[in-house]
Amino acid sequence: MAYVSVEAPGKLARSTPPKFTRSGRAGHLRHLLSAKAIDSDEVDDFCRMAEAFEIGSVSAPGSAGKTVALLFFQPSTRTRLGFEAATVALGAHPIGMEDMSASRTRTNARTRESLEDCAAVVSCFCDAIVVRHHETGAAARMAAKSQMPVINAGDGWNEHPTQALVDIYALRRGLGSIRGRSIAFGGDPRGRTVRSLVQLLRFEAPREIVFCPPPHHAVPADLLSAITENQIRYRMVPDIEYALADCDAIMMAPYDMSEIGEPAASGYVPPNETPESHIITPEKIERTGSNALLYHPLPRLEEIHPSCDVLPNAMYFEQVRLSKFMRMAVLDRLLSAN
Ligand code: CP
Repeated sequence: MAYVSVEAPGKLARSTPPKFTRSGRAGHLRHLLSAKAIDSDEVDDFCRMAEAFEIGSVSAPGSAGKTVALLFFQPSTRTRLGFEAATVALGAHPIGMEDMSASRTRTNARTRESLEDCAAVVSCFCDAIVVRHHETGAAARMAAKSQMPVINAGDGWNEHPTQALVDIYALRRGLGSIRGRSIAFGGDPRGRTVRSLVQLLRFEAPREIVFCPPPHHAVPADLLSAITENQIRYRMVPDIEYALADCDAIMMAPYDMSEIGEPAASGYVPPNETPESHIITPEKIERTGSNALLYHPLPRLEEIHPSCDVLPNAMYFEQVRLSKFMRMAVLDRLLSAN
């Protein structure tokens, strides 16, 4: 069976030996709310710093002993535990509530506290706030009143900027460089992970972006504008086999985002199941002779069959492993600067 000829994901070589120096640009990002606010040099700085944390060549004196509040109003496994693991690895301390519906900011309470007041209060107890919320703009509202940096860990259908940094780090690790490569998006293109990643891909000069969206939802206009404004070519394909055949990497997402905890957008009609044409299987990888590396912010539903997990194409669990180091880089940058 000739799937791909790359080494197993965990053994993939780094493109260059890390030469880590702190950038001294710490003042620019007070909060991390949107991928739009991150520039090209900052992406490189974050990737270098993540790699330095990964190989243990840098310490984090600016973070040690500090306190990070993890406020997750929506379900999460990777982002929540990733930030918690990163906080501990930096020598800092996580605080938070297991169930935010038990907080005063719960949505159905008569004495409901605003997100702004919540931020003003919680920032008295910590050095940074990491927040996930179902409302677009929730992290920005909290940042407006927080005395401490706020990191957007996903706000509704809007953005998930640290996931985008993780994705760039993992794509660079798998491909060596994204420049000149064909990057596909499978599944629902309206999710926050896609919106943030498209923003960061503008610095990476891919050859093209290929969407394989469900037929019942178009790619959002703001994504297509961001792509064309940056002179990146894009095209649509109706079946994931086209992406397997032609693309260097595929960033998958569920076909139906309503299952993963994001509230339905207005007018959203959840499909009953993922069609066969949008599911990646080992048979399709073999049939197309695909060398495409498979990524996914996770959680997955049916869009990548679990029997793909052992193939060298599968990068999605390596992507999770790398996420801790990127989140260490993000936290250390904001904790050291403030
Ligand atoms: N990728 C991601 O955001 O996963 P979680 O919802 O588990 O945090």
